[in-house]
Amino acid sequence: MSAHETTPTATHDSAFLRACRREPVPHTPVWFMRQAGRSLPEYRKVREGIPMLESCMRPELVTEITLQPVRRHNVDAAIYFSDIVVPLKAIGIDLDIKPGVGPVVENPIRTRADLAQLRDLTPEDVSYVTEAIGLLTRELGATPLIGFAGAPFTLASYLVEGGPSRTYENAKAMMYGDPELWADLLDRLAEITGAFLKVQIEAGASAVQLFDSWVGALAPADYRRSVMPASAKVFKAVEGYGVPRIHFGVGTGELLGLMGEAGADVVGVDWRVPLDEAARRVGPGKALQGNLDPTVLFSSTEAVETKTQEVLDAAAGLEGHVFNLGHGVMPNTDPDSLTRLVDYVHTRTAR
Ligand code: CP3
Repeated sequence: MSAHETTPTATHDSAFLRACRREPVPHTPVWFMRQAGRSLPEYRKVREGIPMLESCMRPELVTEITLQPVRRHNVDAAIYFSDIVVPLKAIGIDLDIKPGVGPVVENPIRTRADLAQLRDLTPEDVSYVTEAIGLLTRELGATPLIGFAGAPFTLASYLVEGGPSRTYENAKAMMYGDPELWADLLDRLAEITGAFLKVQIEAGASAVQLFDSWVGALAPADYRRSVMPASAKVFKAVEGYGVPRIHFGVGTGELLGLMGEAGADVVGVDWRVPLDEAARRVGPGKALQGNLDPTVLFSSTEAVETKTQEVLDAAAGLEGHVFNLGHGVMPNTDPDSLTRLVDYVHTRTAR
């Protein structure tokens, strides 16, 4: 056991961390992917006139935005406000986040020479992250802070395509056509991602989530051969901290077992696979996170409660369950429906 694991902290006995460790909980913990963001009027107000990437580099603003959903919804964990492309920007990649579009990369990575764009990340490159997490953990007290990063495949999908894609044709062309270049690209990204997660943990993050949002585009055999080694390297880099490692992707029903095997302690599940079935696919020894369809929140309170109860019933036999949506909060979601949802889960699972 490392020193990190024996040091008692204010967050150690939180419902969220207990559920991640598959220990008994006073209630099922809840947080939402994208809980900070455009669904909140107070977010839209503080972001006015400040571009997304710039807002990620201002520690006071990051702190305020990260705390907004904790104050409003009574969620069991905060997620650090940032974006998956922040570490890439920090090492000098020319990219921007275009409103309504997503990350756009000026010079896509398509050849071996392009790999030179990807240098190692040092803590000094992201000193604003260390500073913001210091401010945040002081404000949060016993509420855990989740750090995060984009997984190598999802980062590569933006870097190779040059922006969001539905088909990943350039990324897949490299993966199938030049497997050595692809492996080297993913390995570079694994180094950068591992270093970025270490910065967040050393600054005080209580858990980390690796977002492989778009990896559901791959067949299991291709995932195992061409992606899993890089994701495993990221998890390995932060193994010694004793901090729970969550792994999430969309449309990953066929990959859940492999994503757990890559080194996750908690496997995130989208809304397409019920949690009892997901548990069979993942196997013993891991907690699950999920998985209410985020669009359910656009229906009546009664319908939200019915669908939420279905998730809780499917989770009843799990070793550990962190309640979440099956993907991020959609910008047009009524924030009051999220507050009611947190309360519903807490009340129904109180023990
Ligand atoms: O509250 C939280 O969950 C933390 C904040 C967070 C953001 N991005 C803020 C953000 C997190 C965890 C991310 C991760 C992220 N970014 C992922 C993985 C999670 C997922 O959704 O699967 C991905 C794929 C990205 C890339 C990205 N960045 C997209 C697709 C977009 C949306 C573009 C748009 O405008 O619709 C972004 C921009 C972004 N990241 C916004 C926020 C709040 C919106 C920008 C804004 O508010 O102006």
